[in-house]
Amino acid sequence: MSNAMKSVKLTAAASYLIEQKYDEYRPEEHAVWAELVWRRRPHIESFACREYLEGYEIIGLKADKLPNLAAISARLKPRTGWNATPVSGFLPSDAFFEMLAARMFPTTTKPRSRDSLEYTPEPDIFHDVFGHVPMHAHRVFADFLQHYGNVCAKIQDKETLERLGRLFWYTVEFGLIREGAQTKMYGSGIISSQGECSNILEGGCEVRDFSLDEVLNTPVKVDSIHHLLFAIESFDQIYEAMHEAEKRVLASPPTR
Ligand SMILES: [Fe+2]
Repeated sequence: MSNAMKSVKLTAAASYLIEQKYDEYRPEEHAVWAELVWRRRPHIESFACREYLEGYEIIGLKADKLPNLAAISARLKPRTGWNATPVSGFLPSDAFFEMLAARMFPTTTKPRSRDSLEYTPEPDIFHDVFGHVPMHAHRVFADFLQHYGNVCAKIQDKETLERLGRLFWYTVEFGLIREGAQTKMYGSGIISSQGECSNILEGGCEVRDFSLDEVLNTPVKVDSIHHLLFAIESFDQIYEAMHEAEKRVLASPPTR
C-alpha cells in the first residue's frame, strides 16, 4: 500500500475505534466461536465460493479460538491493503463509508452469546470476521469494496445512498456467484447464517443473474429470510458495476 494510505486520518469514524483486548476473552466466548465455526464449516466447505475459501486460509482463521484482529490484519494488509479494524459496535453511515474508503473494515470485537447462535441483530465478531473478512483477501473484491466506500462517502442525498445500499446488500451481504454449473456464496449474511444458507440450498430463494439496474431497484428487507437474490459471474462484474453506478451518480447530481 502507498504511504498516502498509511497516513489516512479518520474524522467521522475516529470516536468508534477501540482496541481488541484479546486476553480478556473468557473461555466460554472462545467456545461459542468454536461452536459457530463447527456448525457452519460443512456448508462453507461445499457451498462457499473458491475466493472465500482461499481468503479463509490466507487470514488464518482458527476453528477453536476467537480471531485476533491484529494478526489477521498482518496477513491481509500485504495482499490487499485491508485491515480488520476493531470498532465499538454499529457505525453511522458516514463513519462506515469513511473506513471502507480507507480499507479499514469496521470489525466488532464482541462475540454473540450462546443463546443467539443462529441470529443476532447486533453486530458481532462472528458475522464480521467469519462472514466478511476472508473476501477482503481477494484483490478485485477488495478494490470494489474500497471504491464503494469512497463513492458513498461523498454522497449526501439519502435516496441515492439507499439505492447504493442495495448494491452493498445484494453483493457484500447476500451475494452469490456462479462457479461452473454451481451457484456458490460469498455474501457475509449467507456465509454466517445457517438459516439463510439452508433456505437457498433448499430452493426457497429465487436466484437471478446479477443486473445493476435490478439490484438498485430491489428494496432490502432486513428482518426476513430472502426469497430473491442475485448471482454474479465473476468479481469483475461487481467491480465494473460500481464504476457504472458511480458514473450515474456523477451524471445526475440530486436537485436540492
Ligand atoms: Fe455484514
